[in-house]
Amino acid sequence: MARFRWAALKIQLFNYTHILMMKKLLLPLLLFISISFTRADNPPDEGMWLPMFIERLNYVDMQQMGLKLTAQEIYDLNNSSLKDAIVNLGGFCTAEVVSSQGLLFTNHHCGYDAIQTHSSIEHDYLTDGFWAASFEEELPNEGLSVSFLVKMDDVTKMVMEKVKPEMTETERSATIAKVIEVLKHEGEEEGKYSVSVKSFYNGNEFYRFVYQVYNDVRLVGAPPSAVGKFGGDTDNWMWPRHTGDFSIFRIYTAPDGSPAAYAKENIPLKSKYHLKINPHGIQPNDFAMVWGFPGTTDRFRTSHGIMATINEINPAIVNLSGNILEAMKENMDASDDVRIKYASHYAGLANFWKNKIGETRGLKRLDVYDKKREIEKHFSEWVNADEQRKEKYGTVLDDIGNVYNQLSAMNFNKQLWYFQMAFYGSQVMPFPLANQGMINILKSGLKGEELQGALAPMASSAKDHFKDYDPDTEKKVLIAVLETFRQDMPAAALPDIYNYIDNKHKGNISRYVDYLFNKSILTTEENYNSFLKKPSLKKLEKDPALRLTNSFYNSFMTQMMTTGAIQEKLDKAERLFVDGLRKANPEKVYYPDANSTLRVSFGKVLDYFPADAVHYDYITYAEGILEKEDPKSEEFIVPAKLKELILSKNFGKWRDKEGRLPVCFISNNDITGGNSGSPVLNGNGELIGIAFDGNWEAMSGDIAFEPALQRTINVDIRYVLFIIDKYAESQRIIEELDFVLSNK
Ligand code: ARG
Repeated sequence: MARFRWAALKIQLFNYTHILMMKKLLLPLLLFISISFTRADNPPDEGMWLPMFIERLNYVDMQQMGLKLTAQEIYDLNNSSLKDAIVNLGGFCTAEVVSSQGLLFTNHHCGYDAIQTHSSIEHDYLTDGFWAASFEEELPNEGLSVSFLVKMDDVTKMVMEKVKPEMTETERSATIAKVIEVLKHEGEEEGKYSVSVKSFYNGNEFYRFVYQVYNDVRLVGAPPSAVGKFGGDTDNWMWPRHTGDFSIFRIYTAPDGSPAAYAKENIPLKSKYHLKINPHGIQPNDFAMVWGFPGTTDRFRTSHGIMATINEINPAIVNLSGNILEAMKENMDASDDVRIKYASHYAGLANFWKNKIGETRGLKRLDVYDKKREIEKHFSEWVNADEQRKEKYGTVLDDIGNVYNQLSAMNFNKQLWYFQMAFYGSQVMPFPLANQGMINILKSGLKGEELQGALAPMASSAKDHFKDYDPDTEKKVLIAVLETFRQDMPAAALPDIYNYIDNKHKGNISRYVDYLFNKSILTTEENYNSFLKKPSLKKLEKDPALRLTNSFYNSFMTQMMTTGAIQEKLDKAERLFVDGLRKANPEKVYYPDANSTLRVSFGKVLDYFPADAVHYDYITYAEGILEKEDPKSEEFIVPAKLKELILSKNFGKWRDKEGRLPVCFISNNDITGGNSGSPVLNGNGELIGIAFDGNWEAMSGDIAFEPALQRTINVDIRYVLFIIDKYAESQRIIEELDFVLSNK
């Protein structure tokens, strides 16, 4: 769940979903005249480009760098093309189709939640790995889907037509939401497709994406964590790396080939397009492109935003999540049951925590603030050179600065992130929200079987909730949350539950938490189930966990309401800033920030110099695994069989010309979270690796790309094949793959 829980974190502050749909005729597609683009003159490694525009914007550069495919072989709406091999996995990762039978490669950390869900002390797939020996043994994963991009189009005109300059931000958002509803509905073709319309360039452009979604996705194979997560949190976000971060899934369809929910009789997808695999090795400077669904970048963030990130946002995230992690780890180390239950949740949180530590470090070291000031200086010069520009953009940067100052004075960012991290980190905090509906059911006067019927959905979702839940661990996590808030938030900003803790429990947080776990029907599965058998409105309304959550939630919502108008100002000013910036630099083609839509990044296999006099090579080998081996550290255990294969150099067909086994390599592609699992392709569009990480020296990369330092970390496809073939001995998978015979 690592990645997809993060999606939920981005709380939509103002969500205009239930607005009446407007029946308005859409402009015929023929009417749009797209602005004529010139070639991008950014350094080619920077940018996450929309495949729809490759031919116009990037193709010449790509060809010069080594791309041999035609633009149509890459992206074509009428014939199958490379884009048809790339899927969005569950909304949080990328996967690629690698056989004619819907086989998918992605990262181990993308499959981690699924692997964890299937694990128990008896079948510990996290520790031992999992390899299905037949189609029948492939494991279904409730709630996991994949989406193929069918087509995309620019709907900016249709959206902008309805927007008037005199509108307030609220009116503007509501209007846009209405148009989007219509555009989505139209694109869905009676439920055939799933459609999203997304904002680009901070609300200046809009594109529509039509997806074909498949809901039966099964786990086929996963290496043990000692391979797939080798190096653990210590090596995470770092190069040099020796991690086999891959796992294997398969898409299933109804017997007639159409998308379908899981059913036993479903059959493997007959792939429209699948990637060929090239195990013949890579060289420095080889062309490399990465296709995938990057989640979020904020490359237009201003200097004011950089300061808030360094001083307010990241410290809040790091502090609270660090304390939560510590609380979890204590119990995970003490019990295998807890270790398995919390593995995925812990990994996601630890990944985010370390990312934010690195981001702050990078922002400071790489002087990102000064670089932003430079950009803003040019922007202001451009604005001031013209009266009309002054009118439109004159106050934009000051507005942004003022908003950040006001928000800072109101302690906004700290609160926002503390609340989000609390509701994400603790499983106790959000659960009462999911049970709010129960109050109305109990008020409705339903009795007996009717009442039980109405409560049934809650009973079943509670089953999921308590699956990876350990009360003692949750107690510790909750104590960490409550203590951290009290230590680090101004007293006036604390939720009112603290008064109660002070008055009734003498301010003793652990005593309060003990009391809460004893009394609440929402904190243990037994209490919850016995309550469902004999539900009582009075008891529920007085429930201490409900009271805790409401107190936090109300305090959070109050903050949101009081800062709402200020945040709207920020949205508007940032939209104008990005608009002006693009006009101020017409020679530069700005790629849009990542927003979980399909993108292409192109670059090359490339080493780097992380510090003065230090050189990092572009590739790692299996010997490095043994150099890192440490049987005393769970992060650096090397399975006996792997060790034996490495020591005897039994690398099979997957060794290089010198007889070595490559493990990971780096390239200068521009990626971010969500790209995890993305294919790394050579100039022929053949699979040479799977992207899985970014590097420590450029962790500020989501905010500012650093050409000299920023690298994508990939697992070499030869290591993936070696693990499948020699370690797992899963010949059925090797036989299913489609190899190219030699390097052309
Ligand atoms: N840093 C990687 C990403 O966010 C995830 C790596 C998972 N591995 C780990 N050891 N936690 O894409």
